[in-house]
This record gives sequence, C-alpha cells and structure tokens, in this order.
Amino acid sequence: MSKIFESKIKSNVEVAPTIFKLTVDAPELATLAKAGQFLQLKLPSDKFTLRRPFGIASTKDGVNIFYRVVGEGTKFLSTLEVGTTLNLLAPLGNGFNVDAASKVLLVGGGMGIAPLLSVAEKIREVEILIGGKNRDEVIFWLKEFIHLPSVHSIFVTTDDGSYRYGRKGFTTDYLPEILSAEKYSAVYTCGPDVMMYGVALEAIANGLPCEMCFERRMACGLGACLSCSVDTVNGRKKVCKDGPVFDAREFIEP
Ligand code: FES
Repeated sequence: MSKIFESKIKSNVEVAPTIFKLTVDAPELATLAKAGQFLQLKLPSDKFTLRRPFGIASTKDGVNIFYRVVGEGTKFLSTLEVGTTLNLLAPLGNGFNVDAASKVLLVGGGMGIAPLLSVAEKIREVEILIGGKNRDEVIFWLKEFIHLPSVHSIFVTTDDGSYRYGRKGFTTDYLPEILSAEKYSAVYTCGPDVMMYGVALEAIANGLPCEMCFERRMACGLGACLSCSVDTVNGRKKVCKDGPVFDAREFIEP
C-alpha cells in the first residue's frame, strides 16, 4: 500500500556528468519497497506542481534513486541540500519476481540500470550486463554492483568503446554470447524500449522467462490519466498501475 513519506535528504551527489545519486532517510519505505517499484517525488517549490516518478534503485543505507539532469525540475532537484525534506508517494507499481530460485541475468541500459540494483540486493545470485554511452556512464554503476554478494559477473558495453574492460556496441550485441555460455533461470531487463524488446526476443528464443521494467513519463502515477500507456498483446496497459514490470510475453507474440 502506498502512502506519503516526508523524508530528509541524506546525500545528493553527482556521480557522473549530469547524473546524480539521491539518498533519503526513509527506513519504513526501505522495508516496504519491492525491487522494481517506484516513487513519485514532489519537489519542494510551488514552481513544480506535478510529482516526478523515479525507480527505487536501492534500499541500502536509505532509499536511493538516480536521476539525470534533463530539465528545470531535475536541475532544481540537483541543488537541494542535505537535510531538505522531500514529499514522496511510495511505493508504487508491482515490481520484479525476486523469488526466482537460481541465477538471473540482469540487462540494463542507461538510467534503466537503477531498478536492477534493487533486484541484485534481493536475489541470491545474479549476473549483470550493463550498457551505457561511454566509460563515465557505466563506471559509477560498477561501483554500486561490485560489492554486492549476489553479483557473480558483470559484463559491460559502451557505445563508443571507451570502457576498456568491456565491449564496444550494445547490450543486445553481447547478449547472445552470454546466454550461450551460462545457464540462467530468467532474464530481467530495464532501459530503453528498443533495448528491452531485443533482450526479450533473445531470452524467449533461448526458452527463458523474461521480465521488462518500463520507464515512462507519468502525470498521476495512480492509473487515472493514461499518460503512461503501453501497447501489449492484450491491449493497452498502464505502466504505473499494471507495471512497471511486465512479463515479456505481454509484448512478444508467440
Ligand atoms: Fe496516470 Fe499512469 S501516470 S495513468
């Protein structure tokens, strides 16, 4: 059940150019939140009336979200200091199935990697394939994942090849090789739609269950406005209410 939390900022730091990690003190929310759920944040200014959705990235040492500064709202958010109180509506949405018995492959692109961090904190054994534009945009994720006991391997792709321990290209280029070399019980993905569809097709071709976590702009976040709709094989669904996590078979015809 979602509710309003008034939570103080513990830290708000730039972890890569234009990308910030925000940690709020919200122990009750940290306990309640399931991997893949999101929160709606109200910025503390009359200038911004709509709440903004953010995937809950991690619930270690506070509730953590990652955001990129892309407009006035996120620019304002990046200026908020430790101790500022934020109004959060959370937790929202359904979340990933974390009762999977054995090894899950997580595939994340860009800011879509954030919810997968929370999966890695809750599942016993994972491997992860991370994709980003360049070295700066993957290195801070590596620092987040590398110390988690559940993470056995991390594979990296960058569009420009600037991370020298990874591959040049997209996650979907590397994925077939990873799936053929190791046995997984499922594939979970979050990132750009085109990447997720590619991941889902490959997972299904390999006979693996796949869950996709969608990112959408949201106006209400509560199922009332239809601004977050996606087309599924079973008709239109709302990312905020029916998702954000969907079984890949909702998007890929058998
Ligand atoms: Fe309004 Fe989903 S954001 S219905």
